[in-house]
Amino acid sequence: MLKKITLVAVILAFAYAGAIFALDRKVDKWDWSKINTNPDTMEIKVPKGFLWGVASASFQVEGGHDVSDSWGWWETQKNSNGKPRVEGKAGVGNDEWNLYPTDIAEMKRLGLNSYRFSLSWSKIMPTADKVNEEALAHYDKMINALLEAGIEPMLTLHHFSHPTWFEEKGAFDKEENIDDFVKFSKLVFERYGDRVKLWGTFNEPAVYGYGRHIDLAFPHNFQQADFNRLGIMLKNVLIAHDKVYSELKAMPNGDKAKIGIVKSMMQMDAYNRYDLGDQIIAHYAQKLFADAFVDYFTTGKFDFTAPPVGADVVYNSPTPNKPHLDFIGLNYYSHNSFDVQYTNFDLDKWASPLVYPNEIDTGLNYGFYPEGLYRAIREISRVGKPIYITENGIGVPVSQEEIRQQHVITSLYDVSKAIKDGYDVRAFYYWSLNDNFEWEYGYSKTFGLYSVDRNSPTLERTPKPTAEIYRKLVAKSQ
Ligand code: BGC
Repeated sequence: MLKKITLVAVILAFAYAGAIFALDRKVDKWDWSKINTNPDTMEIKVPKGFLWGVASASFQVEGGHDVSDSWGWWETQKNSNGKPRVEGKAGVGNDEWNLYPTDIAEMKRLGLNSYRFSLSWSKIMPTADKVNEEALAHYDKMINALLEAGIEPMLTLHHFSHPTWFEEKGAFDKEENIDDFVKFSKLVFERYGDRVKLWGTFNEPAVYGYGRHIDLAFPHNFQQADFNRLGIMLKNVLIAHDKVYSELKAMPNGDKAKIGIVKSMMQMDAYNRYDLGDQIIAHYAQKLFADAFVDYFTTGKFDFTAPPVGADVVYNSPTPNKPHLDFIGLNYYSHNSFDVQYTNFDLDKWASPLVYPNEIDTGLNYGFYPEGLYRAIREISRVGKPIYITENGIGVPVSQEEIRQQHVITSLYDVSKAIKDGYDVRAFYYWSLNDNFEWEYGYSKTFGLYSVDRNSPTLERTPKPTAEIYRKLVAKSQ
C-alpha cells in the first residue's frame, strides 16, 4: 500500500514538474550593474533614417472632446451605485488642439524627427453622415507644421475612442460596423495621404478590448465580463485592419504609404515560477493577449480559444501568406506577473498581477522591468516585418524622476542592443511628450518628459530632467 502511495506521489510530482517546465516562459533578467548605463559614455547605435519621436492620442492631449466621443460619453455615465464611472475627466487636456506649435517646437528642440498621434474620428465625423471640415482643416495645419519642422507624422486611426454614434451601434463588437471605420480611414487617407506616409490602423486592440469586455473600465454597455465577446471583437478588429490596409493601398498615394498595426507586448509571467496555477494563468494570458495576435500575422490563424474562461473564437485569414502589414508597431511598458490567490473567491482579485519584490512599483500594477523591452522585440520579430517601437514610457511621479531617467536609458540600451543583435528596429517613440490624461486614472499618472501646470491658463509645460537625457541620447545616435 505504502509503495503504491509513494509511486502515485512520485508520478504526480513528475507530472507537476513537467507541466511547469512546459509552461515556464523564463523571465529574462539582466544584471544591470554590469551594463554601462551612463548616458555620457554609453553607446547608442541605430541605422540611418531611424525615427526618434514621442507619441500621444487625441483624446488624451487635444482637449475639446464632448459626448459625441465614446470616452466623452463614458465620462457622463454612472455606476449602479450612482457614482461616476470614471474619476477624472479629460477636459481641456493639454489643449494640444491650439498649443501644438509649442509642442512641435519642443520636439524639435529635443532633436526628434517623428511624432505619432491619433486623429479624432468623433471630431471629424460627429454624426454618421456629417464630415466636419474644420476638424479636417485643423489636422492639415498640424501635419504641415510638423513637416515644416522636419518631423514626420505617424497617424493612428483608432486609439481607444471613437464617435458615440459608432459606439451606440456596437462598435467593433459587430462585423457589420467595420465599413464605417473603413469609410473614415479612406476619408482621412484621401485628405492626408499625399503628406503622411506612416499609418497605424489600431492602437493596442487587446488592451482596448480587455478594458471594454473584461475589466469594464473602458466605455461599454455590458453587465459582465465575457472573454468570448472579447474574442469576437478582436477578430473584427483584425478583419477591419486587413480591409483598411487593402483599401488604402489601392488609393492614390497608397503605394507610398507604410501601414501597420500597434500591439501592446506586455509580457505575461507567473509570479511564482513553481506554482502551476500561476503558470496556467500566465500561459492563457500570453496566448490570448499576445500569441493569438502575433500568430495571426505570422501564420494567418487567430486562435482565441481558452476553455477555462469560455473563449472559443478562431479566425483564419483569407490571405494567410500575405500579412497586411508594412511594419509592426510595438508598445512596451512591463510585464504582468500573475499570482493565483487560492483562498480568494472574489473573481476580480483571484489572479491579480502583482509586482515582484525585487522590482520598483510603477503604481500601475506592474513593476519596472526594462529588459522586457528586448524580450518583446525578440517575440514580435516573429512577424518578419520592420519593428517600430510606437510607445514606451513610465508613469511615475516627478518625485521619482530618477526612475524615469533610468527607464529611458535602459530602454534605449535595449533598442541599441536589439539592433546590434540583428533585429530590424526602425523607430522609437517615447510615451509621451507631456503628462496627459491617462484614461481611467485621470491625471494621476504622469508619463511625460514635460510636466503640465494644470492651474496655469496657458497650461505651461516644463521639461523634466529626463527630457534632457532623451535629447542627449538621441543626439548621440546621429
Ligand atoms: C496606451 C496609452 C496609455 C499608455 C500608458 C498604452 O497602453 O496606448 O494610451 O496612455 O499605455 O498607460
